[in-house]
Amino acid sequence: MDTREMAQIPLAQAAAEVEAYLAEWLAGRALPENLRAAIRYAVLGGGKRVRPLLVRLSCEAVGGSRSQALPAAAAMELVHTFSLVHDDLPAMDDDDLRRGRPTLHRQTSEAMAILAGDAMLALAFELLANRVPSPGLAGSLCAELAVATDDMIAGQVYDTLPDFPESTPPLVRLQTIHRHKTGALIRCACRLGALSAGASDGRLHCITAYGEAIGLMFQVVDDLLDVTQTSEHLGKTARKDAEQGKLTYPAVLGVDASRREVERLHDEACRALESLGSDATPLRELSAWLAKRTR
Ligand code: IPE
Ligand code: IPE
Ligand code: MG
Ligand code: MG
Ligand code: MG
Repeated sequence: MDTREMAQIPLAQAAAEVEAYLAEWLAGRALPENLRAAIRYAVLGGGKRVRPLLVRLSCEAVGGSRSQALPAAAAMELVHTFSLVHDDLPAMDDDDLRRGRPTLHRQTSEAMAILAGDAMLALAFELLANRVPSPGLAGSLCAELAVATDDMIAGQVYDTLPDFPESTPPLVRLQTIHRHKTGALIRCACRLGALSAGASDGRLHCITAYGEAIGLMFQVVDDLLDVTQTSEHLGKTARKDAEQGKLTYPAVLGVDASRREVERLHDEACRALESLGSDATPLRELSAWLAKRTR
């Protein structure tokens, strides 16, 4: 992430903190060493760490502390990384490049990538159950993350094996895919942060509306980057969506209208935070950065 673009948020430090936490958590699990190495390769090898940052900033926006956000931040990155490893498999998007390196199934084997993804998903819930201090809160966070993961998987089905009624307009299909496959985990990251801080219902509602807006925006930007950037810059294969006949924002609306949609969703995200005052400034700044990101 380019730190010059987000002066108020210590991005590198936030990423390093969650990476150290994840490394320590993985070191303490009883796992076959080749599986541990595969998980470490996928989870600790790069990535922008947007979801852990959303957990932390949402937690702080409602008065919580950095340390309160850490278990949920780490669990979110494990589930996100599992989704990427399986998204890249030959039966899915069949990608060779991820986070600037060979995808896990290219680096190891297809069987190992499937199993490492499965393990990351289970490890995320094990981490929440063991590291969130209050059992009641741990249960709520696990339930939230489980539902968001179901929604992400539903989104991957809509994206990969679509079965919409004939009459469903393309834009409705597109929003359904994007809100599920990408929006659900981003919304969840925001909610887990706020819940970790014990947010009131009113504040949780604001954070949720913010998460829904940036969740959709994130995938619209991802679609735009697929058509406007190079594989080298992205660290993943560009021009993949058209090649695979994916339903994307640029394909349906065109590049300019997709960019306007990004701006509209950024405005919607900022409006959702109005009543949270200056504690939510870093979340506004992150939304602005996500709208402008180039990788
Ligand atoms: C990529 O997510 C997959 C989508 C949901 C669009 P990111 O762009 O957050 O990927 P990393 O974590 O930085 O590699
Ligand atoms: C990814 O959508 C969504 C999930 C991984 C759940 P994409 O297939 O567009 O993501 P990239 O472009 O491969 O990162
Ligand atoms: Mg995909
Ligand atoms: Mg993909
Ligand atoms: Mg994509």
